[in-house]
Amino acid sequence: MPTETRAKTAEKMKIVTIDGPAASGKTSVSRELARRLGWKWVSTGAFYRGLAYVADRLMCDISNEEALSELARSNKWSVRMDDDNTKVFLGAEDVTEKIFQEHVGSIASKVSHFPKVREALLEPQRACAKNVPGLVAEGRDCGTVVFPDAQVKIYVTASQESRAERRSKDLGLSVAETHAAQVQRDQQDSTRKAAPLSVPPNAFVIDNTDLSLDQAVSIIEAHVKKNL
Ligand code: DC
Repeated sequence: MPTETRAKTAEKMKIVTIDGPAASGKTSVSRELARRLGWKWVSTGAFYRGLAYVADRLMCDISNEEALSELARSNKWSVRMDDDNTKVFLGAEDVTEKIFQEHVGSIASKVSHFPKVREALLEPQRACAKNVPGLVAEGRDCGTVVFPDAQVKIYVTASQESRAERRSKDLGLSVAETHAAQVQRDQQDSTRKAAPLSVPPNAFVIDNTDLSLDQAVSIIEAHVKKNL
C-alpha cells in the first residue's frame, strides 16, 4: 500500500497492536482487551498456522517459497475473525482446532521465514481493520509491519519459565519438552531476515510473568485509553 494511502487509512481506523514471543499470554490479553473495548480481535498467527496446516494437508512442499506464496493467495482456504478464536477454513471445513497442534506451529514458524509468504499474507491481515469499530491485532510484526501506523503499540513479554509452563498446560506436554521447543522457536522467530520479532518503536512493554489476565488487561486498557 502506498505510504500516503496508508496514512489516510490509519487516521480513520482505530488499531491497537499487541506483539510478543510465543506463550507470553498475548492472545488471551488481546482477546480480552478487544472484548472490553467492544472492538474486533485478530490473531495474525492464525494466518501462518492456517497456511502451515493447509500446506501440510495438501502436501505442498514447505520448502518451496513460490508454491507456498501461491497457496497463501489461493481461495482454497480462508481466515475469519471471531470473538473467541481467529478461525481457519479449508474450503468449507472449519480446521481451527487443528492449527494449534505443536507440529503445525513448528511448520508455521518455518514458512513464516519466506518474504513472499509474508507479503502474500499482508493484505488479508490488513483487511481485518476494514469496516470494524476498532481492531486489536496480535502477533509478531503487527506494530512493525502489518499496522505500522497503529495508534497504540504494545509488546507483551514474560520469563522463559512462565511461558514454557503456560504452553505445556495448553498442550498437555512436559515443561522440559515445551521449553526446548520454545527456545528453538524464539531463535527462529527473532533471527529470521523477514520481519523478525522485535519491540516496535514507542511500544508500551509489559512483563506478564507475574500478572493475572485481569491485571495485564487493565494495565493495557488504561494505557490505550490514555493514548487513543
Ligand atoms: O503466535 P503463534 O504461536 O500462533 O504463531 C505461530 C507462528 O507464526 C510463529 O512461530 C511465527 C509466525 N508468525 C509470524 O511470523 N508473524 C505473525 N505476525 C504471527 C505469527
